[in-house]
This record gives sequence, C-alpha cells and structure tokens, in this order.
Amino acid sequence: MTTPTATASPRRWDPVVKLTHWTIVAAILANALITEEGSSAHVWVGYALAGTLALRLIWGVIGPAEARFSAFPPSPGRALAHIREIAAGKRSEHASHNPLGALMVYAIWSVLAVIIVTGVLMASAPAEPRGEPGAAPPAATAERLEREEHEEGEGREGGEEHEEGPLTEVHETAVNLLYVLILLHIAGVVFEARRSGRRIVLAMLPGRR
Ligand code: HEM
Ligand code: HEM
Repeated sequence: MTTPTATASPRRWDPVVKLTHWTIVAAILANALITEEGSSAHVWVGYALAGTLALRLIWGVIGPAEARFSAFPPSPGRALAHIREIAAGKRSEHASHNPLGALMVYAIWSVLAVIIVTGVLMASAPAEPRGEPGAAPPAATAERLEREEHEEGEGREGGEEHEEGPLTEVHETAVNLLYVLILLHIAGVVFEARRSGRRIVLAMLPGRR
C-alpha cells in the first residue's frame, strides 16, 4: 500500500484505449442525441460503435499490460476489498482500472453488447413484404418510414401506439441502463480523481502519457 499525494504517479493509457474510449463516447452521444432512432445514420453509427468496441476487446488480449483484461479482472471480492479500503481511508495504486472501476467497465461493455446485438438484429430484420421486391430500403428505414407515415396519418393521437417488438424493448431498456451506468461511471471517475490525487482524467486525454 502506498499513500499517493497530488504528485502520485500518473496512470498511463495507450492511444488505442484513449481513441476507443472517446469514439465510444461520441457514438453513444450521437445515437442518443442526434441521429433519429432506427434511421440509417443511427445504424451506421451503431456499426462504428460495434467495430470500436471489437477493437478494444481485441486490445484487451494483445494490447500493452495496463490495457489487458488480466490487468483488471472482474472480481466482486476485490471490489469489496477496495470498498473496505476506501472506508478505512487507505489508498493503493493500480496500474489499470481499480477493482471497482473494473466491474463498471465490464458492465458498460456488456450492456453495449446487448445494445449492439439487438440493434443489428433489428437493422437486419427482413423488410415487410410490401412494395416492389428487390427495391426495398434497408429494413430499419422501411420500418421507420412506415411508422412515421402511420403516426402522421393518426395525427399522433393517443390510443394507437405502434407495437414494440421484444428486440426494441430490450434495446431501449439496455440504453436506459447504459445511461445509469454512465452517470455512475462519471461520478466514480470524479470520486477516484479526488480521493487518489491522481490525474486520471488527464491520463485518458490525447497526448498525455
Ligand atoms: C449506444 C448507442 C445507441 C443508442 C443510445 C440507441 C438508442 C436507441 C433508441 C432510444 C431507440 C428507440 C427505441 C424505441 O423505439 O423504443 C433505438 C432504436 C433503434 N436502434 Fe438504437 N441505439 C444505439 C445503438 C444502436 C446500434 C449499435 C444499432 C445497430 C447497429 C441500433 C439500431 C437501432 C434500430 C434498427 C432501431 C429501430 C427500432 C425500431 O424502429 O423499433 N442502435 N435506438
Ligand atoms: C458515454 C459516456 C462514457 C462511457 C460509455 C464511458 C465508458 C468507459 C469505459 C468502457 C472505460 C474503460 C476504458 C478502457 O479500458 O478501454 C472508461 C474509462 C474511463 N473513462 Fe469513461 N466513459 C464515458 C464518459 C466519460 C467521461 C465524460 C469522462 C471524463 C470525465 C470519462 C473518463 C474516464 C476515465 C478517466 C477512465 C479511466 C478510469 C481509470 O483510470 O480507471 N469517461 N470509460
């Protein structure tokens, strides 16, 4: 156990960890705030998110020591021990995510995987067998256009809401869970930065090693 001060050794993240972190953040923000749900932009951003997450997961096997899964195993036991350390005012340094942070990282990745799998399944679902065969737009776009036409026709009056399939429901629930995890993650980062005196946010920014 060491007792770091404001000059405690900085955490080091390689460029792949930094780039994938901020790309994932950007993709989530884009799909949560900018793209229209189910639009082709939403789906393309989703594929970019999937590719970025895949890259980070591969990096967890072949990347440098701090980026590897072996540096931050998901361990509830270690996370509990870490909470006890916090309660006792003890501080230990971790080259990678601390055990509590590690659980959060795996939780975020798992929820992202659910969002991606349900999103890709919805996007690749066959279009309604209507109109010219072969000239159908992508399934998600077709479905959305159809729903929008329907909603416009109905003047969005209460009552008739479109039936949400189980995939949509799982996608939406996972998205809401992701928002909760993100809030906890940011609170955790702020807490850890203040507690440890280590500049962990700077360490995740470009150009800092
Ligand atoms: C973390 C990033 C994402 C966020 C925040 C997000 C958010 C949402 C939300 C709120 C909906 C509306 C659900 C509803 O109708 O109740 C939606 C729908 C949809 N999303 Fe995502 N999504 C994300 C990632 C993805 C990915 C990775 C894909 C696929 C590659 C995808 C494909 C779709 C499709 C096809 C729909 C249309 C569902 C429908 O029309 O019923 N999304 N998304
Ligand atoms: C959409 C929002 C966010 C998501 C989904 C997210 C997700 C993640 C994930 C998955 C990791 C693990 C990185 C890896 O090992 O590859 C991580 C680490 C980290 N994130 Fe975020 N993040 C978000 C927003 C932020 C924001 C806004 C900040 C700045 C305050 C931030 C600061 C950090 C830091 C400092 C770490 C490293 C923690 C450590 O040193 O153990 N994140 N984040």
